[in-house]
Amino acid sequence: MTTTIPTDSGCDTDPLEAYRARFPILARTCYLISNSLGAVPVETSRSLQDYYDIWAGRGVRAWEDRWWMLAAALGDRLAPLIGAQAGEVVFQPNVTIAHAVVLSGIDFTTNRRRIVTDAMHFPSILYLIDEQSRRGADITVVPTADGVTIDTGRLIESIDERTAVVAISHVLFKSAYVHDVAAIAARARQVGALMVVDGYQAVGVIPVDVRALGVDVYIGGCLKWLCGGPGAAFLWVDPARRHALSPALVGWMAHPSPFSFDPRLDRRTDAWRFLHGTPNIPALYAAEPGITLLNEIGVHAIRAKSIRQTERLLALADREGWRCTTPRNPARRGGTVAIDLAHGLEISKSLKDREILCDYRPGAGIRLSPHFYNRDDELEHAVDAMREIVATGAWHAHAQGTEHRHPVT
Ligand SMILES: Cc1ncc(COP(=O)(O)O)c(C=O)c1O
Repeated sequence: MTTTIPTDSGCDTDPLEAYRARFPILARTCYLISNSLGAVPVETSRSLQDYYDIWAGRGVRAWEDRWWMLAAALGDRLAPLIGAQAGEVVFQPNVTIAHAVVLSGIDFTTNRRRIVTDAMHFPSILYLIDEQSRRGADITVVPTADGVTIDTGRLIESIDERTAVVAISHVLFKSAYVHDVAAIAARARQVGALMVVDGYQAVGVIPVDVRALGVDVYIGGCLKWLCGGPGAAFLWVDPARRHALSPALVGWMAHPSPFSFDPRLDRRTDAWRFLHGTPNIPALYAAEPGITLLNEIGVHAIRAKSIRQTERLLALADREGWRCTTPRNPARRGGTVAIDLAHGLEISKSLKDREILCDYRPGAGIRLSPHFYNRDDELEHAVDAMREIVATGAWHAHAQGTEHRHPVT
């Protein structure tokens, strides 16, 4: 099979294309999978080398030089991307653990014991929420009528004085539907429930302002749209709600003087109270360059390009007569376009054979996620390849039973 990836021709009209040179994989692939794993910038190699160098050169003193502070220091760098202030964000090993920390601080044995979520939330978080029933929680899962959206009115109606927590994604991972977070948070606030938002599919591709949204807790990660690799998630808790949240999932980093090795926990009053054990230091080094880059570019410019490119993808899919499982209204659409074709899984694998990287989710379809570094002609290239794979039956090479599934999130 021959594959021709469109070559870099330069573009005078899209200043963001200047960033392509910073991402080696873009020279070899049509990279449309930033909803899953963002491309790695060249600077990450240097940053990981720094991690090694300080360990090699300073040994155990690396902790006092940099490592011990890193989960909070990197939080300060991340803060502008979600409209937070320095000192308000701490890093966590993953998004599920960050949710577990927050939920562990809630008492579900009172009359206020309900968790309201929706059926389109990421399964890992749904599992965790479901497990809270062991601790006394009543769980309400608002269903989806169309597999794409969640009705805002229905979600709001489910929130009342019995609600302890409302937990939703900002952008749904399957369909890229953008929840009306501000409206839902207003209702949560009205009844005194804690509003916990998972922004994994939002931060880095849509502008986020935690204060304008009116949420209490905002969680995200660097793996996808922040080009930062695995193991680096973050947690923001509104300082006004901080004192009311004392996680049971806690550890020595939450103690004001951890090196006193006090057997009794004296909890910090700042954002460090949400830390627990030793942070994932190499992952934080890996995440730093992406955060720097995203701050430099600015998410508003990224969002404008993302809307243009997802709009373009939808138009191309319409031209082919393909069904899209992504909102049409750009204000309610994140960075992904999902196209639901028969044999979508096999087609997505055939696309990978052609160096066009994307993924497939049952019920959603083939997910194409352009980011600030993609060119418009790559979108045409991907759609042309999909048409060819369907027309020639090339997807049969991946028909069920011929290979194992490859796990990607
Ligand atoms: C919205 C959302 N939440 C959570 C997760 C899983 O996060 P983690 O593996 O960091 O716990 C994903 C992964 O794709 C996601 O898209």
